Amino acid sequence: MINRSKYCVANFKMNKTLAETKKYMNLFNSFLNEHTFSKNITNRVVCPSYICLNKDIFNSVSLGSQNINENDSGAFTGEISAKMLKEQGVDYVILGHSERREYFKESNSKINQKVHTSLSNNLIPILCIGETLETRENNLIEDFILRQLTVSLDGISINENIIIAYEPIWAIGTGKTATSKIVTQVHIMIRKILNDIGFDGENVSILYGGSVNRNNAKELISLNEVDGFLIGGASLDAKHFFDIYNFVEESV
Ligand code: PGA
Repeated sequence: MINRSKYCVANFKMNKTLAETKKYMNLFNSFLNEHTFSKNITNRVVCPSYICLNKDIFNSVSLGSQNINENDSGAFTGEISAKMLKEQGVDYVILGHSERREYFKESNSKINQKVHTSLSNNLIPILCIGETLETRENNLIEDFILRQLTVSLDGISINENIIIAYEPIWAIGTGKTATSKIVTQVHIMIRKILNDIGFDGENVSILYGGSVNRNNAKELISLNEVDGFLIGGASLDAKHFFDIYNFVEESV
C-alpha cells in the first residue's frame, strides 16, 4: 500500500525580520481561521530565519530550519546545532538546497553528514536535489541525480523518515517552472533510483520546488507523483502561501 504524506513547505531564505515574521503569521492564521478544511491532513511547514524559530509565533504550522551544522556541538563559531533547533520546536530541516551547494560549497558528502545528524536528533530532512540546465541539456540528469541520492543517503536506514524535494536549479527563483511532463518524469526517475539504492521509493514523499506560485500549483499538485511543494518567493506572501496550501489540501 502506498502511504505518502502531503507537504506544503515555505522557505523564507534570508528574508523577513522578527517583526515581519510575526505580522506574516498573524495574517496567515487569520486565513486559516476563516477557512474550514474538510480533511486538514497536509503538513504545513515554515522555514524562517534562525532568529524567528519560536513555537509561540508558529503555533499553527510545523517549524523547519534552513540548515544545520553537521556536528553535534563544539567550537564552530556562528553555527547552530540540531539539538538547539529541536529544543526550539523544530521538526524539519532543509538540506542540500542548491543555494547552500553553490554559495557555501556544500558537497554531497557534507550533506550526507547533515542527514545523519538531523535524523539522530529527530529532525526530518527535506533533502533537495536537482540538476543544472547544462546537466539537463547534456542528458546527464540521471547520473547526476543518482550521485546526489547515493552519496547523500549513504548509511541511512530505509526505515528513516526522509522527504525529497526535486528542485531543478534552472527553475529556482527564475520564474521558469518545470513542465508537468518534466516533473512527472523526474519524480518517477527519483523513485526508481531510490528503489535501486535500497529505499522504498513509492513510500517516500517527493516535493517539487522551483518557481511554484498560485498560478501553477493546482496543475502541479494534480500530478500523482507530486506530494507537495517547497516554495521560496511565493511563500513570502501569506495569502499566496495560504492559497498554494489550499490547492495541496484540496488535492488530497
Ligand atoms: P522559488 O524557490 O520558489 O523562489 O523558486 C524555491 C526554493 O529555493 O526552494
